[in-house]
Amino acid sequence: MRSHLTVGAMLASVATVAANAGCAADSLNNWYCSAVDSIAYTNFGSSGTYQEVTSINGGSCTQGEKAYGGPLAPLNGEVSWHFRGPLVLKQFAVYTLGSEEKKRNIKPSLHERRHGHAHLHKRKEKRAVGDIVTATIDGQVVTWVNEWAGGAAPTPAAEVEDGGKSGNSKAYKAASSAPASDDRKPAAPINAGKGKWGRQAYYNAQAGTADGLTFLNHFGGDKSGVFDYDLGNSLSYASKDALSGCASPEVLEDKMIPDNVEVILMSDKKCNGDCGAVRPGTVAYHGFEGESKLFLLELSMPLTGKKGWNEDMPAAWILNAAIPRTLQYGKPECSCWKTGCGEFDVLEILDSGNTRAKSTLHGNISGGDSYYFNRPTDGLIKVAVVFNALTSSAHIKILDDDVEFGPTVDATNVSKFCEKSAKNSIFTLGS
Ligand SMILES: *[C@@H]1O[C@H](CO)[C@@H](O)[C@H](O)[C@H]1NC(C)=O
Ligand SMILES: *[C@@H]1O[C@H](CO)[C@@H](O)[C@H](O)[C@H]1NC(C)=O
Repeated sequence: MRSHLTVGAMLASVATVAANAGCAADSLNNWYCSAVDSIAYTNFGSSGTYQEVTSINGGSCTQGEKAYGGPLAPLNGEVSWHFRGPLVLKQFAVYTLGSEEKKRNIKPSLHERRHGHAHLHKRKEKRAVGDIVTATIDGQVVTWVNEWAGGAAPTPAAEVEDGGKSGNSKAYKAASSAPASDDRKPAAPINAGKGKWGRQAYYNAQAGTADGLTFLNHFGGDKSGVFDYDLGNSLSYASKDALSGCASPEVLEDKMIPDNVEVILMSDKKCNGDCGAVRPGTVAYHGFEGESKLFLLELSMPLTGKKGWNEDMPAAWILNAAIPRTLQYGKPECSCWKTGCGEFDVLEILDSGNTRAKSTLHGNISGGDSYYFNRPTDGLIKVAVVFNALTSSAHIKILDDDVEFGPTVDATNVSKFCEKSAKNSIFTLGS
């Protein structure tokens, strides 16, 4: 999830992309087909290289080539979860295959009380001229350098073509297959391993408990983390309401995350020189690790009617955990994002007030499905996100309300989370 500009006038320059039958662009020229209950990304993994940040020194960053490969690469390593309001996160659970449940508790540590003297700095504007901006246009992820200072019309058409020059816009299949609602053949069971998937982290808003995870945000310099004018705010511990930083880990309160407020979830394992380069002074935690991963979420995305930048535009997305630990917003050379280290948008609203939530993968291989999920405006939904190494596939599926986020999940149940639902879309990556 980078800044998403409305693409308006820019579509003209990408008119070579053919429209899907039954799919149409809305008034902002974002493409939508129809609502589905699950999206499966097949052929998920790829191999290649990206530019990893190897050092950060006084606002300047050095990168080095990093090779990746495997059935879920580049998202086979540690990942972080990001939520932008308006969003109610009721439950969040992380599981890995062949593991026992891990029982851990977040205990606020006195050792975290560094930078107690820090002043609250004005936050840097998140989207600035020079930042990388992406939009998904009929399934194609288009990336360009923002030259729009805000206020007037969006970037003119020429900048979209420049997007190709920025090196992150790659050719790939533009459209997904039609939803398989007419496919009544029972599908072969998906192999999700044998035995149990064990819960590694669990947040329950109502109970006010969080095991195995840490809530972070972008208020470095406010009681934890750092701020400077080159790189802006680093990560910080998130206050209970997520509206400021705080000195030590807190449990997110049982309330809606407000419009355009971002909360980041990582594990409860602090980096100890074992996370690669991180921004000096940042709060730094390991992401959620394991090649195969299962995430269960219970959330809603209420309508607020707000119209400002990023308002009434909720999103839930996954990043390669190195991105927030170096720099999530700002200088491209201080993040591996631009060179394809991985982002997976799970449920993303592209413009204020829209009720269609899209999913997109950003990397060297990128793709976004034009089929969408109905935004859960009126109540909570349960969602499974499965990264299954055995099938090199990723699955987002809306679950029945009675699914429980217990200490373990049987592999046969995970297999069901990967099966087609009545309204299903399959998106084949890299073909
Ligand atoms: C990007 O993907 C293509 C197609 O798989 C591959 O040939 C190329 O080496 C990849 N580039 C990088 C930088 O990984
Ligand atoms: C598996 O799913 C069934 C319903 O399909 C449910 O009754 C059971 O509790 C689940 N068990 C585990 C451990 O996942």
